[in-house]
Amino acid sequence: MSGGQLQTDEQGRLRHFLSIEGFRREQLLQILDTAESFAMLPGRQVKKVPLLRGKIITNLFFENSTRTRTTFELAAKLLSADVINFNVDISATSKGETLLDTLRNIEAMHSDMFVVRHSASGAAHFIARHVSPGVSVINAGDGRHAHPTQAMLDMFTIRRHKGDFTPLRVAIVGDVQHSRVARSQIMALNTLGVTEVRVIAPRTLLPADVRTLGVHVFHDLEQGLRDVDVVIMLRLQRERMENALLPSAHEYFQLYGLTAERLAYAKPDAIVMHPGPINRGVEITSEVADGPQSVILQQVSYGIAVRMAVMSMAMGNSSGEQDS
Ligand code: CP
Repeated sequence: MSGGQLQTDEQGRLRHFLSIEGFRREQLLQILDTAESFAMLPGRQVKKVPLLRGKIITNLFFENSTRTRTTFELAAKLLSADVINFNVDISATSKGETLLDTLRNIEAMHSDMFVVRHSASGAAHFIARHVSPGVSVINAGDGRHAHPTQAMLDMFTIRRHKGDFTPLRVAIVGDVQHSRVARSQIMALNTLGVTEVRVIAPRTLLPADVRTLGVHVFHDLEQGLRDVDVVIMLRLQRERMENALLPSAHEYFQLYGLTAERLAYAKPDAIVMHPGPINRGVEITSEVADGPQSVILQQVSYGIAVRMAVMSMAMGNSSGEQDS
């Protein structure tokens, strides 16, 4: 079953959000437009809206997270939902309970939505296939496969800074091979119709079939950055590397680290993005990460509005433009 078939109901409304795959341009734009309606809420005196009052949302994080878990929790609270944070370290999962049994037990507590992060690719799809009708599953990152809300907050950031997607050239730099974020970004950028998606990386950090994703491949950073509008840096995912794919972090930085001199090859108004956590001095210098072209912290803030949009749409409510 394709992502799209599992993710929407018969009327095409969002039920689960598991991957970008299967969504049309108009559907992605609807998520971005809905997020726009929530983006002004944090600046208001009363920040909450009652859209998910009475709903229970469970954060099921089987892998570490700072940004994603926190912004999902904050987004759920701003929508007036009750939030349960399932702590894997002290749960029965660490005593050998299966994922399905854990799910069944939490479902018995009447959760309306699961936000799932797991190290296994396909974990969120697996859970979505097993939950009761009416329960939604949002993928907060599964293995190397997908991180769709990260990709959508990245698209939101790009649209906020650049407007129309169609004329844009976007470069994604670094460890594409192990990155669920890159896969989701590439899919979203191509669905939204940008002019060109480039990936820039050593051969060892690119999937063998990377060109089938609809990208142009560069191995030289300066060539790849030439005239791009958006530079997205990726973290080296050392925890997912099975072999020594790189001589050293120092050598990687020499060839692929984003310095101010290298950023000058991109357009003068290019923005610099990174999903975090950043490794200063490995994939990016502090001068660039904290510099005027960096929108890295804005990505985190926009994540709240985008996650509010996805959660409210999956629960059948979708606008921040109402009285709180
Ligand atoms: N971007 C991202 O997924 O960060 P966390 O691992 O901190 O959630």
